[in-house]
Amino acid sequence: MRSDVLAFVDEQLEELREAKLYNTIRVLESAQGSWVTIDGEQKLNLCSNNYLGLAADQDLIDAACQATETYGVGPGAVRTIAGTMSIHGELEKTLAEFKNREASVVLQSGFNANLAVIPLLVGKEDLVYSDALNHASIIDGCRLSRAKIRVYRHLDMDHLEELLQEDTDHPGRKLIISDGVFSMDGDLGNMPAIADLAEEYGCISMVDDAHGEGVLGSHGRGIVDHYGLGERIDVEVGTLSKALGCVGGFVAGDARLIEYLKQRGRPFLFSSSLTPAEAAANLAAVRKLWQKDDLVSRLWDNTQYFQGKMREAGFDTGRTETPITPVMIGDAGVSSEFSRRLFERKIFAQSIGFPTVPEGKARIRVMISAAHSREDLDFALETFTTVGRELDII
Ligand SMILES: Cc1ncc(COP(=O)(O)O)c(C=O)c1O
Repeated sequence: MRSDVLAFVDEQLEELREAKLYNTIRVLESAQGSWVTIDGEQKLNLCSNNYLGLAADQDLIDAACQATETYGVGPGAVRTIAGTMSIHGELEKTLAEFKNREASVVLQSGFNANLAVIPLLVGKEDLVYSDALNHASIIDGCRLSRAKIRVYRHLDMDHLEELLQEDTDHPGRKLIISDGVFSMDGDLGNMPAIADLAEEYGCISMVDDAHGEGVLGSHGRGIVDHYGLGERIDVEVGTLSKALGCVGGFVAGDARLIEYLKQRGRPFLFSSSLTPAEAAANLAAVRKLWQKDDLVSRLWDNTQYFQGKMREAGFDTGRTETPITPVMIGDAGVSSEFSRRLFERKIFAQSIGFPTVPEGKARIRVMISAAHSREDLDFALETFTTVGRELDII
C-alpha cells in the first residue's frame, strides 16, 4: 500500500499550532456591519475592511438584485469569449471617470489585478523596485513577471535611489511599485517621491491602493488624488473588496495599457469575470461615493477619535496614518490571548502574526469603519483598556 504522501501536512499544521500561528477562522452568520453574529452571539466588528459600511448597503443590494434579474447570476464565460456584459463596461467607464484616468478594467479581485498587470509591464530582461512591505499580491505579480526584483527598505527613498543609480546602465524597462496604504501598519507609500524618482530615472510608476480606495483623497478617490499627483503615477491598481463593499479589483491608467491588458492579462483571459450582481453593486458604490463624501468624512472622524483615545490610554498604535489601527503587542501568543479575551467580551478583533507581519511584531489590527457609532467606539476603548491592563500591555 502507498505510504501517506500527505503526512507532511500534519507536521506543518502542528508546527503552526505550536508557534501559535494557526488561524482560527471565525464564521459570520450575518451580513457585514458594525455588529455581526458569530456563534449565535452579537459581536462588535473591529476587523473587516468594510470602511464605509457599504457591504450591506440597501442601494448596493438593490442594484445587485436588479442586475441579477436582468443578466442572471453568472457571466457564463471569460471576458474575451462571451463573459463581457454591458454592466462590466458601464462599471469600467464610471470607475475611470471617477478616478480621473483614461480607462480602467475590472478583474475578479485586487490580487488578480496585480497578477494581470505587473507581468505586462515588466519581463525577464527588466527590473522592478518593490517596497519591502508590499502586499503578497504585488510580490507574486513581480515573481510571475520574471523580472529581477530589487527590494528597497520600507519607505526608504534614499535606498530606492541608490538602487536606481546602480542600475542606470540597465537597458531594460524599470518599474517602481508600492502599496498606497500598507495594510498591516496603515502608513502611506511616499508616492510624490516615487513619482519624482520615476521621472528622473525613466521608470514606470505603479501604486496598489487597495486600502486607499474609498478612504483617501476627495470622495475617496485614493492616494494619487490625495497627493494631487494626477497622471504622474502611471498605473493605479485598486480593489472593490474593501471600502467599496463588494468584491473585485481594477487597473486604471493609460488607455493603451488597459487595451493591452484586455488582450494579454492572464487572469482576464483565463478566468471568468465578475458576476453581474457584483459589477452592479460596485457601480452603485462608485456612484454613491461620487455623489457625497459624508461616509468618508465619518470614517476619518471615527478614526481620529478612536486612535486619539487609544494613545491616551497608553497603547502603541504604531505608525498609522489611516483608519488601519495596529495595536502593537509583540509576542504572538499574548496577541492571540488578547484577541480571545476581547472576543469573550463581545469584541471581534483578530490577532495578526507571522508571516503576515514580521516575527515579534504581532498585533491586534483594528479596522475603523464609518458604520461604527460613538457608542461602539467607546465600548471598544473600554474593553481594550480592561484587557490591556489584565495582560500588562498598558
Ligand atoms: C495592498 C493590497 N493589494 C491587494 C489586496 C487584495 O485585494 P482583494 O481582496 O480584492 O483580492 C489587498 C488585500 O488585502 C491589499 O491590501
